[in-house]
Amino acid sequence: MSDLSNRGSFATRLGFVMAAAGSAVGLGNIWKFPYITGEYGGGAFVLVYLLCIALVGLPLMYAELIIGRRGGKDILSSLLALTKDSGPLGTAASWVIGGMAVASGFLILSFYSVVAGWALSFFAAYAGLLPLQGGEQMFNALVSSKTSIPWHTVFMLLSVGVVTLGVHKGIETACKILMPALFVILVILLGYVAVEGGLAESARFLFAPDFHKLTGEAVLEALGHAFFTLSLGMGAMVTYGSYLPDEGAVVRDGVVVALLDTVIALMAGLVIFAVVFSHGGTPGAGPGLVFVSLPSLFATMPGGQLFGLAFFALLVFAAWSSAISLLEVVVAFLVDKVGMDRRVAALGAGLAIWALGLLSATDIDWLGRFDDLTTNYMLPLGGLGIALAAGWLVSKTDREAGFRVLGPLGEPLAAAWTFTIRFVTPLLVGLVILSKIGVFSAEEPPAPPAEVDEASPVDTDEDP
Ligand code: TRP
Repeated sequence: MSDLSNRGSFATRLGFVMAAAGSAVGLGNIWKFPYITGEYGGGAFVLVYLLCIALVGLPLMYAELIIGRRGGKDILSSLLALTKDSGPLGTAASWVIGGMAVASGFLILSFYSVVAGWALSFFAAYAGLLPLQGGEQMFNALVSSKTSIPWHTVFMLLSVGVVTLGVHKGIETACKILMPALFVILVILLGYVAVEGGLAESARFLFAPDFHKLTGEAVLEALGHAFFTLSLGMGAMVTYGSYLPDEGAVVRDGVVVALLDTVIALMAGLVIFAVVFSHGGTPGAGPGLVFVSLPSLFATMPGGQLFGLAFFALLVFAAWSSAISLLEVVVAFLVDKVGMDRRVAALGAGLAIWALGLLSATDIDWLGRFDDLTTNYMLPLGGLGIALAAGWLVSKTDREAGFRVLGPLGEPLAAAWTFTIRFVTPLLVGLVILSKIGVFSAEEPPAPPAEVDEASPVDTDEDP
């Protein structure tokens, strides 16, 4: 068998779109987006977030997909192949960007799986497999003891299982089931809150911008989240792009994936805030919004247990298809670059990531540290590197391949994209990184340690 047929690929473009959307739609959409939107006051934050998706997310999405599609391999091998003509600079840049990308996949999955495990455990409780207690009780039990280890383990097994089966049989098949299921659940939940009440208030909160509430910090958070939610900055889209059956789809499918991700985040926000507003919760409850506040509110809703079951199924499905893509970045690297067998790679990487995840599972501070390190530093740095590599080190032929198939529209679009990826994206991302490392912090009073208690037990307005 040739090298190429050994790697596997997506059978159809729909399969690719489902897998890429599966990667993008995750805990970021259903857990993180609602709670940061709540913390930053709603509409104005949402508007900035949408701008970030358009200005930074979309151009980078195309950059990653085209690098994968043209390079045809894992992120490191693809970058090495496409920057060959740029000499030692290209090689060095490829190793730095590729190495950091694989490390990011490894680190993110280690804590992502722990949070997904929490969701799995709530799901089990709503399904009647565990005693259903108050959200705060259950959540505190999960984060303050070893209770989350078995759930973390099950979740890793689920992810490794799919990746072991390969790109088409595993990833594509799983995402073609999970994504439509997720969408149906979300529509049902939306239907419920439309009847139950709170939807109008929720929509006002999300879509009526109050710019007084917008701070510099909120803008940074919005940009950082645009990366995370679209799975950018660590080669997930490069890897999936390398399994794309045809080039013609890159631009359009990239837009479709970003749209799906955004629509699903907004729908999840609508549902969650409708529940919050109609049952007396607070939108600014922080990371505990989904795991602490919501379960308490569900308990007061008619059909709340069923609602909770559906909601946590949604969260698990979303997290699962994202975890698959995180693992696949590492596995593709081990298969393509190191030459390992896929199954060995998936099991070995899975085991190592699981072991690292024990830190986050037993000590919430580690979870916060890994999240901070990856989301706030490694992903933006990776995105900066990928933008610069795509804009300056990859040949025009490779770089613009996805636009050439678009007919007369292709040329102006390619020019606009090239300008953006060379100047605008690096500038914006560079600003974020500089401010994260505190270059501009002299002007501001010390910010509340938002990242530290990222996922620590939170006090809410919960009434027993
Ligand atoms: N996008 C996913 C989410 O919103 C998380 C994720 C999956 C991710 N793959 C990634 C984030 C790659 C960054 C890079 O939950």
